[in-house]
Amino acid sequence: MAGVRHPLTIAIDGPAASGKGTIARALARHYGLPHLDTGALYRAVALAALEAGVDLTQGPAVAALARALDLDHCDDARLRADRVARAASAVAALPEVRNALLDVQRRFAAAPPGAVLDGRDIGTVILPQARAKLFVTARPEVRARRRFLELAARGTPTSEAEVLADIRRRDLADSTRPTAPLARAPDAVLLDTSDLDIDEAVRRAIDIVEARIAA
Ligand code: CDP
Repeated sequence: MAGVRHPLTIAIDGPAASGKGTIARALARHYGLPHLDTGALYRAVALAALEAGVDLTQGPAVAALARALDLDHCDDARLRADRVARAASAVAALPEVRNALLDVQRRFAAAPPGAVLDGRDIGTVILPQARAKLFVTARPEVRARRRFLELAARGTPTSEAEVLADIRRRDLADSTRPTAPLARAPDAVLLDTSDLDIDEAVRRAIDIVEARIAA
């Protein structure tokens, strides 16, 4: 795109089911950039630990699995399961695991033409110098409804109340952990998608990035 300095790095953070993944994919398409769903990295480490019977509280053992992670295997459908999300939140609290995944994320973003990364600590820790930062959020009830519909479409038996309780627990754990908690970077623009459909949310996200590029 004319006038865009490369690499163009876009950091998108936010809580579970806020719409950040959909927005990140749409921005990546719009700007012709690769996209990294960093939550999938933590989910993949969690699944590997569950399968290997590794204790989810053992930093060095889980970090060894993180170092062996193959990015090409981070789109396994099993990663979307609820128990994997819970386990991901547990292993994501381990400093050794976050450390093991730091370089792979920074390398992904550094190569021209840049990248869109979404997660919890992209604007704060992974890419503090990102050209554009968004913090995508929505009311917990709205997020629970979205995640419930997603799980139901995949045939997972659950209730909306259960999903809401799960989301609240994970939000609390993610935002209160000492290492790289979920937080809005001071220079991240807040985008509340509670009352927006996908098209409108994506339009607003593009406007936010355009304003940053022009600045
Ligand atoms: O899709 P959803 O928002 O439910 O979850 P996700 O983005 O796939 O992330 C799963 C878990 O990984 C989160 O609850 C976080 O604990 C952790 N995570 C993290 O700590 N840092 C990131 N950059 C991305 C995910």
